[in-house]
Amino acid sequence: MHQVAFRQMKDGTREEYLFLEKLESEFNEGLVDRLLQALKDLENTLSGYQVSRLEHSLQSAARAEADGADEDLIVGALLHDLGDELAPYNHSQLAASIIRPYVRGEVTWIVHHHGLFQKIYYAHFYGEDPNERDRFKDHPWYQSCIDFCERYDQASFDPDYPTPPLEHFEPILRRVFSRPPFDPNVIGKEHPLEL
Ligand SMILES: [Fe+2]
Ligand SMILES: [Fe+2]
Repeated sequence: MHQVAFRQMKDGTREEYLFLEKLESEFNEGLVDRLLQALKDLENTLSGYQVSRLEHSLQSAARAEADGADEDLIVGALLHDLGDELAPYNHSQLAASIIRPYVRGEVTWIVHHHGLFQKIYYAHFYGEDPNERDRFKDHPWYQSCIDFCERYDQASFDPDYPTPPLEHFEPILRRVFSRPPFDPNVIGKEHPLEL
């Protein structure tokens, strides 16, 4: 079989779905390569900063690594702005969805909310509420998200910071994304699909 015969999903046979499943798992083996390419593509996105979005991402991950963060959080820092190109108004949620099957629930939560938490630094200049994040102040991961933003994200627009190349983070990325997706022992049993 090189193609299924059905034209509507409801007409597919078991054999056809097993065939498709095999193709899908082969395709998914290229996920990390596609993530690496997506990171490289960040080199030419938002302008006006002193560093590219790729350098910002690498610098955020480097600061996390230097801070002694675990591999989940380093990967979260590396990928936290990946959604910029396709979801400019909710990139945090897009990036969180990409890492969600593979990292601790806390890291997904941090990445999911980092855009809103970062508003503390600039929203007042646009006449918006910089303290919007206060509505999460009773959440167990509230302070972790504050720390991520303060130490890694908002700090990583410095062209003089010794930022390693993407290749430095490739082994970490491959290790984290080689985990079985949605393993409750990794993402947490109570980790909600809806954040
Ligand atoms: Fe962001
Ligand atoms: Fe960022």
